[in-house]
Amino acid sequence: SAVLELRRSLLDWYHQFGRDLPWRRNRDPYAIWISEIMLQQTQVKTVIPYYERWLTLFPAIATLATAEQQQVLKAWQGLGYYARARNLHRAAKVIVEQHGATFPQDLAAVLNLPGIGRTTAGGILSAAFNQAVAILDGNVKRVLTRLAAIEVPPSKASKQLWELSENLLDPEQPRDFNQALMDLGATLCTPQNPACLICPWSTHCRAYQFNLQSELPMFETR
Ligand code: ADE
Repeated sequence: SAVLELRRSLLDWYHQFGRDLPWRRNRDPYAIWISEIMLQQTQVKTVIPYYERWLTLFPAIATLATAEQQQVLKAWQGLGYYARARNLHRAAKVIVEQHGATFPQDLAAVLNLPGIGRTTAGGILSAAFNQAVAILDGNVKRVLTRLAAIEVPPSKASKQLWELSENLLDPEQPRDFNQALMDLGATLCTPQNPACLICPWSTHCRAYQFNLQSELPMFETR
């Protein structure tokens, strides 16, 4: 079936061409959480040195929870969007108080933490625990919008896009599948000049089939 072929071709591509990123070598939910928050609004190559330094300064949730806010903001200096650092600090205290300093594995508990929405929760739970929780960040929205040739702006197709991400997600390899989807969006299915000729999904991609890849996703209007 199409879904099985999409899973298999994406995972094969990822095993050959996926990026070797520091957080992918780690299974510690705390480290993965830090990487996901940094990556929300900051590019991979900027994040890497901040991620490494952060884990040296605050190697565990309890270290972060007991740090002074000044130290926390200083470690964030240069990343911008400082609400992210304040939320990390607040969430670390919540995890100590409510979860005995162990990062929760339950989706509802993760979603209750400050600064964590649905896609960040999926990113963490799939990467750390191989849980089948879907993601839908900016890159993934673009990939899926093209795959299904969705001819309305992504904000008008949120439900359809989430359902697509959930239906495609490989229940046997959710960790690798989600990471692969992010890599496809970041390296081939780019906003400009997507590399359709070498894309593992081109034979199933409706945008490519209709030559709409440069027109999709549609711009948000307001
Ligand atoms: N952006 C958000 N999460 C990411 C991840 N785990 N790897 C690469 N880019 C990402």
